[in-house]
Parts: sequence; structure tokens; C-alpha cells
Amino acid sequence: MFHIDKSQKQPIYMQLYEKIRDSIINGQLQEDEKLPSKRHLGDYLSVSQTTVENAYAQLIDEGYIYSKQRSGFFVSAIDTLPLIPQQRVSSVSPIRRVETQPLSRYSFQLGAIDKAHFPFEQFRKYAKEAFDTLQDTLIESGDVQGDFMLRQQISQYLFHSRGVETTPEQVIIASSTEQLLSIITDLLPENHSFILEDPIYPQVPQLLSRKHISYRFVPVCHDGLHVEHIDQYDDNIVYITPSHQFPIGVTMTLQNRIKLLKWASQHPERYIIEDDYDSEFRYEGKPIPALQSLDKAERVIYVSTFSKSIAPSIRIAYAVLPRHLAKLYQNKINIEGGTVPRHTQYIVSRFMESNQFERHLNRMRKIYRQKRDVLIEYFSQYPTLCQINGAQTGMHFVVTIQNGLNEQTCMARFKAHDIDVQPLSQYLFQHHNTTPQFVIGFGGIPMEDIEAHATQLLKSLEINESS
Ligand SMILES: Cc1ncc(COP(=O)(O)O)c(C=O)c1O
Repeated sequence: MFHIDKSQKQPIYMQLYEKIRDSIINGQLQEDEKLPSKRHLGDYLSVSQTTVENAYAQLIDEGYIYSKQRSGFFVSAIDTLPLIPQQRVSSVSPIRRVETQPLSRYSFQLGAIDKAHFPFEQFRKYAKEAFDTLQDTLIESGDVQGDFMLRQQISQYLFHSRGVETTPEQVIIASSTEQLLSIITDLLPENHSFILEDPIYPQVPQLLSRKHISYRFVPVCHDGLHVEHIDQYDDNIVYITPSHQFPIGVTMTLQNRIKLLKWASQHPERYIIEDDYDSEFRYEGKPIPALQSLDKAERVIYVSTFSKSIAPSIRIAYAVLPRHLAKLYQNKINIEGGTVPRHTQYIVSRFMESNQFERHLNRMRKIYRQKRDVLIEYFSQYPTLCQINGAQTGMHFVVTIQNGLNEQTCMARFKAHDIDVQPLSQYLFQHHNTTPQFVIGFGGIPMEDIEAHATQLLKSLEINESS
């Protein structure tokens, strides 16, 4: 019979329900076997009939037992029952810890931002506003396209900072660049295929593969993508990072931009997806307007993110669609979207509206520039042994090691020196680099650790005399 423990916190009827259910699953109670009557079982366990009744009712609801009028309760056919794992996870089993700390002492992680200068105070203030003042409004599900207020702020910001011409109606909000690309591919002409830069942000080809969209890679030259490399193919969509090619960091020249825009304007089914992921942080020369700002034929789909400019955990990316695609988006039923919590959207739009976003960017630009300058200073002491490229913008650059070591040896040395750094080859899909190159992410390195990181890296490669 079933054992009940009255000292337990769990209600008795639930204990009884679980005991009977487990006996059925284990086969101790067989199909069509009669269960004791409510009175009999109640008396036996010294519990009320209502307790037994509640346990039986739960078992009936879940299909473990059935009742027959005036006959009682019986075990249901076992093969119609849902399969529930017999082994319970112990309540004391440890929860798997998510590793948030970089594993290495010297981490040149890409995508990490400076934590010491995050505008916590403003975020706290606007979060309080969102949860206190606007609690009734923001609790409702909002616009799938993104809250209008945020779209309005983004369109103003993009016009002033990147020359992007847009209305809030053309802006769509999603929780990642990858998700935006997924949405965009649902709006593109049927049977589209992609031209991708090589090297590339791996999430892009991965997403296209998952969606069974075909793509091909073309090499990136020192001045960006060359139209001659794409003109020979029938593919109609080009995905590029023209302001700071990911990850090699080259900037596409105006000549190449114009040629590419011309290519796109020659056919109504051609589009350019411009990923402008980190152009807020430009350290040398004048800011380069977005490719979209030159586009008169509405062929450019502009994509960017707050992952670098605010934080990767904010999970807000945005796209500016040409007007005809925005209309298509708005007319689509059940299109993907509405994935960014409204409270977060509110906080970010208030942050932008109050001009604090702009101030934050100016402050961060200075900080990232300082970090970059320290690293460059260290590396440039050895111009024949290592060469830096793509450091004009963003929070990473590429270093080419020219002291005769190959990539494998360099990686082994990094590991031995507790350094975490990514080889460029990891982002190359078809083309190969002959000399070892590494992508140095510096955004997340605390300012006070930057010199130690630079020294350790040089030491590991035996570039530094002190090694
Ligand atoms: C080329 C490129 N696009 C976009 C992103 C950011 O994507 P998300 O908005 O999904 O964080 C990154 C991040 O490193 C990137 O390298």
C-alpha cells in the first residue's frame, strides 16, 4: 500500500497521487486493476475521503486511471500513458553553473565591452520609471515591429550619426542581428541567394544554412568588396560590413561603394545588406557615412546593433528597410518579431532621448581609443615582427605575426601563457591566410590590465626582448 508522510510540506493528496502514479508507471499496478475505494483507502491511511478523492481526480485528469459507475476506479491502459522519466532529478542536485568569467587570465575576447563605464545609474533610473510610472502600459504586449518611441529615437540617431535616411515606420527591432537577418530573408524575393564576404561573422552563413538559403563567398580586398568578384554570378543579395569589415577591419572605399550601389540598382531583385555593427567607435579620420546614405534606389537594407554601443546583453538590434520592404513587413501576417521586452525598449529609448546615449558614446570612444593606443604602442615597437590592421574603428583589430611561427605554434604558446585569442582563420570559410593572423578584441579588457595583456601576448610570441 501507499506510504504517506504527514510531516512533509507537500499536500497529502499530492503525495498519494504521486505514489499511485509511480506505481502505475512502474507496472506495480496493472492495466484495469481495481484501486481501493475512497472510503477504504481513506480509512487505511487515516486521511479524509476528500483527500483520496482529490488524488483520484488528479489521476483521472491526467489519464492514469478511469472510473466506472458504481464499480470504482481502475488503472488505464499503460501504453496510452505519457512516458514520464522514472528517475527524478534529486532536489539537491547542483544546478549547472554557467561560466561567465573568461577562462583565461589574458582574454582578448571579441564582443566584450568595457564594464567599468556602463551607465548603470541612468539605466536604474529609467528602469524604475518603466516599472513604476508605466507599469500598466508596458505590461501589455507591444508592437511586433518594436515600440514606436524606440524606432523614432533610432531613426533620429541614425540620421545624425550615420546619415541614414529613414522614418520610424521603416525601422524594425529584434533581439539580435541574426534574428533580423532571418526576418529580412523572409522579405526578400523568392529564390534569392547570397554573396558573403570571406572572412565573415560566422552567424551569417550559419543562419543561411539553417534556412536552406544558398550563398557563396568572395574575398575581401584591402579596399573592401570588389564588384568584379560578384558580377560574374547570378546571386542577388550581398551581405557586407563596409565601415569596418568583420573581422579584418578594412573600410570599403567610396569608389567601391558606388560600384556596388550601381550593381544593386541594375535589377529590382538585388539588395545589399549593410551590417554597421560597430561604426560608433571610429578613432581616425572623419566618420564614414553609412552606405545606405548614398543609396537612391532603395536597394540597401541597413542593420546595426546596441551590442557594442550599449551592451551585448541588452539584446536589441535594428534594421532600416527600404520603404517597399517595410510595407511588405507590415502586411505579413505572423511575421517574427516582438522579441525585445518592452521595458528594455523603454529604458533604451529614454536613454537616447535624454542625449545620454550620445554622451555615453563619446565617453566610450575615448576609453576604447586609449585601450587601442596602448596595444598599438606595444606592437608597433616590433614593426617587422608584427603588423596591425583594421584598428581605425571598433573594439578589435587584426595582428599579423611575421616572426616565422605558424598559427598552430602561436595558439599553443597562447594557451601556455593563459591567453585567449581567436585566430583569423576561424572566420575564414574558403580562403586561407598564409601568415598567422589573430583578432585582438580589446573592449572588455579593464584599462588597468591593458599593458599586462599586451606584454603577455608579446612575451608568448617571443617578440618581446624580456621573454
Ligand atoms: C559583424 C557583426 N554583426 C553583428 C554583431 C552583433 O550581433 P548582435 O546584435 O546579435 O549582438 C557582431 C558582434 O560581434 C558582429 O561582429
